[in-house]
Amino acid sequence: MSQAVADIGLIGLAVMGQNLILNMNDHGFTVCAYNRTTSKVDLFLENEAKGTNVVGAHSIEELCSKLKRPRKVMLLVKAGSAVDNFIDQLLPFLEKGDIIIDGGNSHFPDSIRRTKELEAKGILFVGSGVSGGEEGARFGPSLMPGGNPAAWEHIKPIFQAIAAKAPDGASCCDWVGENGSGHYVKMVHNGIEYGDMQLICEVYQIMLEGLGMSHDEMATVFEEWNKGELDSFLIEITRDILKFKDTDGKPLVEKIRDTAGQKGTGKWTGIDSLDRGIPVTLIGEAVYARCLSSLKDERTRASKLLEGPKNAKFTGDKKVFIDQLGQALYASKIVSYAQGFMLMRQAALDFDWNLNYAGIALMWRGGCIIRSAFLGKIREAYDNNGKLENLLFDSFFQEATAKAQDAWRNVIAQAVILGIPTPALSTALNFYDGLRHEMLPANLLQAQRDYFGAHTYELLSAPGTHHHTNWTGRGGNVSASTYDA
Ligand SMILES: *[C@@H]1O[C@H](CO)[C@@H](O)[C@H](O)[C@H]1NC(C)=O
Ligand SMILES: *[C@@H]1O[C@H](CO)[C@@H](O)[C@H](O)[C@H]1NC(C)=O
Ligand SMILES: *[C@@H]1O[C@H](CO)[C@@H](O)[C@H](O)[C@H]1NC(C)=O
Ligand SMILES: *[C@@H]1O[C@H](CO)[C@@H](O)[C@H](O)[C@H]1NC(C)=O
Repeated sequence: MSQAVADIGLIGLAVMGQNLILNMNDHGFTVCAYNRTTSKVDLFLENEAKGTNVVGAHSIEELCSKLKRPRKVMLLVKAGSAVDNFIDQLLPFLEKGDIIIDGGNSHFPDSIRRTKELEAKGILFVGSGVSGGEEGARFGPSLMPGGNPAAWEHIKPIFQAIAAKAPDGASCCDWVGENGSGHYVKMVHNGIEYGDMQLICEVYQIMLEGLGMSHDEMATVFEEWNKGELDSFLIEITRDILKFKDTDGKPLVEKIRDTAGQKGTGKWTGIDSLDRGIPVTLIGEAVYARCLSSLKDERTRASKLLEGPKNAKFTGDKKVFIDQLGQALYASKIVSYAQGFMLMRQAALDFDWNLNYAGIALMWRGGCIIRSAFLGKIREAYDNNGKLENLLFDSFFQEATAKAQDAWRNVIAQAVILGIPTPALSTALNFYDGLRHEMLPANLLQAQRDYFGAHTYELLSAPGTHHHTNWTGRGGNVSASTYDA
């Protein structure tokens, strides 16, 4: 029996796993590394981990015997059945109170199930979102752990030490909530990332097609934006991408084929928003925009067949319009985050989670792809009022959207006239206008449903009572139970 020397064990020595181990080692924790292909363990110890305190294990049993109690084992393996397989292999060597952490990109229903199954065996399960890519894993990721709350005090010192730090020094890791909530919040993070990227891309297309700007001119604008309220990782890398020249001196980005890939987390967010009944329209549009982009051949044919606006040309003041573009981007981004937090709020109701919203904003503040100064403001909003019904109701965001709205409307109006697609910018404004309408035309919709399907309607003067009207004065008794549309 080996001595229990390690603070935590880590299974899976792909890049993310290796980098997290080295990060933990930097912060004074002893890590025991394991990989199914045990030669990888030796290679890692002889190379990347040479001269560190990292120890290796060549079997699951050896791994578990080297861990201090309660044992903490983190999995960084492919999401899906590999996670369940490793859990099954670990169980014979664990005892009550030991902790299994899944740091992979698991779908949250799996984490809900695993928390429950393992709780019945006395094992504490944590499903943790890990964001920030390889670089983040090595020098400070955003970590979003959720699961069995009893695990938190044991993993907190390690997790908060290795996570990214916000500019005020706070760790970008806090407890998210029960069972699947850590992976849920990571999923929403990825969806928001889709939205942020799509918004920037729409602004880029307006600058390019509408204003005829050069890539260097655009880079200068992004440089300026990055000093203000739009300050964020994605604005920063966009500036660098726009500036980047190919060997022939031309911007490389111009040469890249305009078909977007996706790994599926944006789609998961979109599907889940439909399941929860929450209009997360901006992420939905961002996913669809990637789908449309990948129909390259069909678009090429359409470009020759379908008519656009004739002689449409931007005639306004370019400098003023660029400033308005920044405002439209900012306001749309506020809407996207408001939608994301609405979704998490509904999930918390549906799954009975106590979500820590200020903590979530803090976890996204640094380390991850959507990190931005703006998340500091979201954190303040939820710090001021943990029960905030909607991010847009917070006075800061209420005023920010009010201030931006004229510019936002003008940008979208111009884009429509010029025939430049703005699915995300427009849906954000449409959502904003929908939300601020006390009356929507769903009265007519209910009448239509009652007309053809006898689905009944409620009266404004008496919510909760259902009425059916004989609209046509014709025909027999139509009943909602036999006709469903
Ligand atoms: C083992 O390491 C390789 C990379 O060296 C990695 O691709 C794989 O996911 C790891 N697998 C497990 C289960 O440890
Ligand atoms: C998930 O956690 C919540 C809050 O503790 C709990 O009410 C719910 O039953 C859990 N879900 C499952 C499937 O165990
Ligand atoms: C609807 O109204 C017409 C005309 O008054 C009447 O003949 C008919 O029976 C009514 N239908 C039902 C289902 O009540
Ligand atoms: C329609 O249904 C109602 C309630 O079931 C019944 O009272 C009425 O007589 C029906 N009318 C006709 C025209 O069948």
